[in-house]
Amino acid sequence: MANKVMKKIAIFASGTGSNFEAVARACQEGIINAKVSLLVCDKPEALVVSKAGRLNVEVLVLTPKEYESKKAYEEAILAQLQKYKVELMVLAGYMRLVGQTLLKAYPDKIVNIHPSLLPEFPGVNSIKRAFESGVKETGITVHYVDSGIDTGPIIAQRVVGIDENETLESLEEKMHKVEHELYVEVLKKLCEG
Ligand code: GRF
Repeated sequence: MANKVMKKIAIFASGTGSNFEAVARACQEGIINAKVSLLVCDKPEALVVSKAGRLNVEVLVLTPKEYESKKAYEEAILAQLQKYKVELMVLAGYMRLVGQTLLKAYPDKIVNIHPSLLPEFPGVNSIKRAFESGVKETGITVHYVDSGIDTGPIIAQRVVGIDENETLESLEEKMHKVEHELYVEVLKKLCEG
């Protein structure tokens, strides 16, 4: 069988980067048929930047406040995505709303992972809010990105139970583990075809 052409992806992240690491490793191990061409990060001090260094992934750190507008900031990102011929944008803890410049350049080609069963608990602190609400289960959603906050079409969801003696910390740990598995599974399918 002929070698399949690897999809070129860019991962966008602002924080710890555990999802970045899971996806980048799965690409490097050939589980996902893709190459992580670029990490795009809006926070120079974020832990994800050093993770990318260890995994030999190119890093683009752009600080939004150094641009006169969101449009100018996204145009600078877009120029790099085009230079690297990026085909899919993968958001992994990117703490910004994607604007029209990138949405128009990548229609149906931007995905995000969110730690709740959307449409429940969109936005920030979703794990904590679910935990404190007393629900018996929450979960993970992977979805396409539109102009809203965690509102795009859902691709996949996985339920995570909240046990009787669950703590916020134990729930967070379970959730992240499921995130890493689900994101790799979904991206594997999306990059196959
Ligand atoms: C994850 O919970 C993800 O679902 C959300 O932001 C968090 C990022 O975590 N969008 P990490 O930086 O990948 O560890």
